Amino acid sequence: MFLLKCRYIESSAVRQYKIAKTVGVRIEGESTRCFRLLELLSWKLTNWLLRGLCMIEIEYRDQKDLPCDELYKLFLAVGWAKDENTTQMMRDNFNCAFLASTFVFSAWVDNHLVGCIRVLSDLHFRSIIYDLAVLPEYQKQGIGTELVHRCINMCPGSEWLVQTDCAKGFYETIGFKKNSEDDFLMIPCKWF
Ligand SMILES: CC(C)(COP(=O)(O)OP(=O)(O)OC[C@H]1O[C@@H](n2cnc3c(N)ncnc32)[C@H](O)[C@@H]1OP(=O)(O)O)[C@@H](O)C(=O)NCCC(=O)NCCS
Repeated sequence: MFLLKCRYIESSAVRQYKIAKTVGVRIEGESTRCFRLLELLSWKLTNWLLRGLCMIEIEYRDQKDLPCDELYKLFLAVGWAKDENTTQMMRDNFNCAFLASTFVFSAWVDNHLVGCIRVLSDLHFRSIIYDLAVLPEYQKQGIGTELVHRCINMCPGSEWLVQTDCAKGFYETIGFKKNSEDDFLMIPCKWF
């Protein structure tokens, strides 16, 4: 019965429910009982159910000119940007690194940016990934993996590099191996 009911939930209704819950709005309606059941489940299981039964539609795009406001919100959500450190000029040009990258992929739900990745590459031998991010409420649904795969498919014979502390496990699931030599030399960025 529960599963049958789930089949009738529209993904947009579920998203409205999540937003309503976040901002504390009381909601009524036919599906409320089912939503309450969903709420009882862990978010991981809920995400799995929503993906399988409600088919949240994710659109992937390859445009480089991502809207600065959407990109800024995504960076805020994953903790890479902070309002107090970001000037209006930085916000207005927030996509500059994406515009100048070799290629960019992004994930969209209902015309809202939910994930992004950018790559600097010579298109043959050497490629490096930057700024892979997925909105927390859309994580663990395969979006990050799909974004990385789309990049690798652009030049599958290339060496692929990424520098990360907290997402090593994620990249290992995709097939990246730790560089045991650990021989990076660097001059740090003066902006961040
Ligand atoms: C890292 C990140 C992009 C992963 O995106 P995602 O859409 O959640 O990834 P996926 O759903 O494709 O996950 C694929 C697998 O990796 C695992 N995984 C995801 N994030 C992980 C992490 N930080 N550490 C270890 N494993 C992770 C998932 O559990 C999943 O495994 P499963 O298939 O066994 O369930 C996302 O967590 C994120 O935006 N983090 C904040 C920003 C960040 O750290 N970016 C990386 C900098 S290069």
